[in-house]
Amino acid sequence: MSIFNLLFRKFYYAVWKRIYTNETVKLYEMAQRPLIQPEGLSVKPVSLANLNDACSFQSNYQINQFKDLLQKGNAGYFGYVAGKCVHRSWVAIGACKINLHPMVSRKLKTDEVFIHFCETAATLRGKNIFPGVLSHIGRQWTEKKVLISVDHRNASSIKSIKKSGFTEIERIHIIIFFGLRFVQQLPVHP
Ligand SMILES: CC(C)(COP(=O)(O)OP(=O)(O)OC[C@H]1O[C@@H](n2cnc3c(N)ncnc32)[C@H](O)[C@@H]1OP(=O)(O)O)[C@@H](O)C(=O)NCCC(=O)NCCS
Repeated sequence: MSIFNLLFRKFYYAVWKRIYTNETVKLYEMAQRPLIQPEGLSVKPVSLANLNDACSFQSNYQINQFKDLLQKGNAGYFGYVAGKCVHRSWVAIGACKINLHPMVSRKLKTDEVFIHFCETAATLRGKNIFPGVLSHIGRQWTEKKVLISVDHRNASSIKSIKKSGFTEIERIHIIIFFGLRFVQQLPVHP
């Protein structure tokens, strides 16, 4: 991430999003745990020893964010194809506080885990890597309710989430106007 992108991102989330936001977030629960294993994909847990593998498609800023997630007790998963790291997904483990959206938090219960900070390298998108990693995570956390949230406009992510056995359980509409925040539960449509 260039310094310009970094500054723009900081401004966008720290300033602009507090002035105006009008977004809908969908919360999904893994209702089925299908076995999805795209050819050539292997999934490994993240530790300090392999953290830098993600330099193949992530910036130093993001690697530092991952160090922080590890320190906070998150479980990380890297997806590898032909020995190269091409995907990352992180899992927050309840009980803790999670962000469904930069402006909306929620308490995660002890029987819940929450998948967040997911990305597939741009060159390998559309090859079921994300569903493969979600399926792996679902099989790692069989005793827990597995949750994930997504912006309703993120069509690619929603496709992967649905393919991986998730069902929508909540839909939240967030409006922020000059610091005033309105959060409304919307009906969930199948
Ligand atoms: C969302 C994301 C993780 C999906 O990863 P993925 O490994 O490509 O997942 P899939 O293979 O299941 O592809 C999902 C959909 O993306 C779309 N897609 C296909 N090829 C694509 C490409 N080259 N580039 C972008 N999107 C593509 C397709 O609609 C695909 O669904 P389909 O294969 O059923 O038609 C990835 O697009 C990404 O990293 N996006 C940016 C970060 C992000 O949105 N993270 C998720 C937050 S919840």
